[in-house]
Amino acid sequence: MVTRTVDLRSDTVTKPTEGMRAAMASAEVDDDVLGYDPTAQHLEAEIAAVMGKEAGLYVPSGTMGNLISVLTHCPIRGSEVILGDYSHIHIYENGGISTIGGIHPRTIRNNDDGTMDLDLIEAAIRDLKFELCFPTTRLICLENSHAHSGGRCLSVEYTDKVGELAKKHGLKLHIDGARIFNASIALGVPPSRLVQAADSVSVCLSKGLGAPVGSVVVGSKSFIDRAKIMRKTLGGGMRQVGILCAAALVAFQENVGKLEGDHKRAKLLAEKLDKISGLKVDVATVETNIVYCDILEEANVTGLEFCKTLAGFGILAFPEGRLRIRFVIHHQISDSDVQYAISCIQRAMARGVANGDCSH
Ligand SMILES: Cc1ncc(COP(=O)(O)O)c(C=O)c1O
Repeated sequence: MVTRTVDLRSDTVTKPTEGMRAAMASAEVDDDVLGYDPTAQHLEAEIAAVMGKEAGLYVPSGTMGNLISVLTHCPIRGSEVILGDYSHIHIYENGGISTIGGIHPRTIRNNDDGTMDLDLIEAAIRDLKFELCFPTTRLICLENSHAHSGGRCLSVEYTDKVGELAKKHGLKLHIDGARIFNASIALGVPPSRLVQAADSVSVCLSKGLGAPVGSVVVGSKSFIDRAKIMRKTLGGGMRQVGILCAAALVAFQENVGKLEGDHKRAKLLAEKLDKISGLKVDVATVETNIVYCDILEEANVTGLEFCKTLAGFGILAFPEGRLRIRFVIHHQISDSDVQYAISCIQRAMARGVANGDCSH
């Protein structure tokens, strides 16, 4: 019988705290589609300020934040966007920029650290002389931290260089900042500096910060005015949305300061997992709250099988490919949860997970 659950599937699985629930219950609200919800306005202003941008717009999800941003930068069908082949926008967002916006994705290989080579980005920018045949490049997208590379951080120097490249060619730069606060804390760089080169950033409140719902897109006032129209078009305008924004404000005020602890716990988990026979973690690549753990062939178990076995111990994680598991730390995972997870994983490995023996 499972007596304790440690949920390491994602940082999106957090439950609203008592403080968030109390803030939701007492939130001052009004019709936000008409532009009158004071709590939404407060949250948007706070996030815009911390990101060093003129304005913000609350949206229901990170996916919609990215979609609104890309569509707003690329209002003409047949525009082209340069983005990583393992970016969230390209892999996990249903190809929305193409199906809804008629926007063509030009992918560049994501390196192991989440970057794309600058020379490859520049080479991918279309020559306007051939506009008869070519789509028109309008936007470059980065992702920081980069989820598929295990939450690795793009440095401010790299981001600035991509920004310079974009400017030189008259392009815009969007950052999928679903976990931009994780990157900022890990790099020791203020978020506003980290995204200084970007024309827009989609900031998730519902990932590392632990809010139940929502993201804020930030950018210039004129960009946000246009983004607001796009949000309405996509059905993302919500009426008394201050109820959700109130919880997000608490998450922002209380949880940014906890991210450093999350990163330490992720590092500890990585180090301990790497010492378990049959498992391998590249500890140096664990920069934020995501840990990718490889299963060695000799362990004779797949990621899916191992996750099922771990679930028998109450340890929840997701397989990521045939021989890889992803563990994600968030503010509701304590030091003791990490220790408990490590001991269960050790026992699961020692007892022969391939045989499905998870009795304990
Ligand atoms: C890097 C990144 N961008 C965007 C998103 C999309 O966010 P949402 O699930 O709120 O649509 C996610 C979701 O996990 C993500 O990891």
